[in-house]
Amino acid sequence: MKHPLHTLGYKFLTASLEGDSQESRLLPKLSRRGFLLSTAALSSCSAASVSSNGSSATGPAAPVRTTANPGYRTPSVQGPVPRNPDMNLNSNFSRNAGITFTRVPVSGKYVALTFDDGPHPQNTPRLLDMLRARNIKATFYVIGRSVDLYPQVVRRTVAEGHEIGNHTYTHRLLSKLGDAEVRQEMTRCRDSIARAAGVQPRTMRPPYGGLLQRQRELIHSEFGYPTILWSVDPLDWKRPGPSVVASRILNATTPGGIVLAHDLHSQTVDAMPATIDGLLRQGYRFVTVSQLLAMQPSANAQAAAGAPAP
Ligand code: NI
Repeated sequence: MKHPLHTLGYKFLTASLEGDSQESRLLPKLSRRGFLLSTAALSSCSAASVSSNGSSATGPAAPVRTTANPGYRTPSVQGPVPRNPDMNLNSNFSRNAGITFTRVPVSGKYVALTFDDGPHPQNTPRLLDMLRARNIKATFYVIGRSVDLYPQVVRRTVAEGHEIGNHTYTHRLLSKLGDAEVRQEMTRCRDSIARAAGVQPRTMRPPYGGLLQRQRELIHSEFGYPTILWSVDPLDWKRPGPSVVASRILNATTPGGIVLAHDLHSQTVDAMPATIDGLLRQGYRFVTVSQLLAMQPSANAQAAAGAPAP
């Protein structure tokens, strides 16, 4: 599926390399925000962004380059907001819990919010403020290359109790890659996360949702990561507007669900207060992916049973 902004992003990037071309004279008309939006449009996790021949429509997403934002201040919360309850939940899921998850069968209205393709220097901190005000822990599937650009954002994410997952180093479609390249994508992203924030990812999400069963088994065996897909996809990367993103998530969420969203996009972050507050009013409680996996009845039973002597 070809998004019109792909063309814009391509022209912009091309023009920036060509110097004196016609496009370059148009550059001052493109605001920094416009550039961020156009580059953001190049990246998505949704399978719909894979072209019909199975390859990525745009190739690897270009990391968004910008300067640091030392002037950023955490905004005060406007009025009372619903608050996720304090929960002392186990996050140690069994290695035998499974290899692929789109949701987790749990008893209770638990849901895991996941945000892909960050860190982003402005949108991710803004989202973190919203989550902190509501006592919510989410899971961030980060791109290693962006982690290297904005390690301080990942450090803050971890410091505020969120989980970091492996979303590869360059956001390539793994199902088209050989084992050595898949290993390299996983290893480089894992190492970037460790360098930035001193933690190890425990799960992975494949870019565009594309990962062969054989590759899932390889990654689970060698890295210990289950492959985490999703049960709720608001197609937020198409930027349908914050209210549409919120209503799609509110209508599609079920207990044990895993919600796919992208903190790369400002509209997605704009949608989160209505989304989160609506789910809290519906009685949902927010957990990380690892906490959700650890709730799985079968995994708990296996963990409790331990390894009985034969
Ligand atoms: Ni992605």
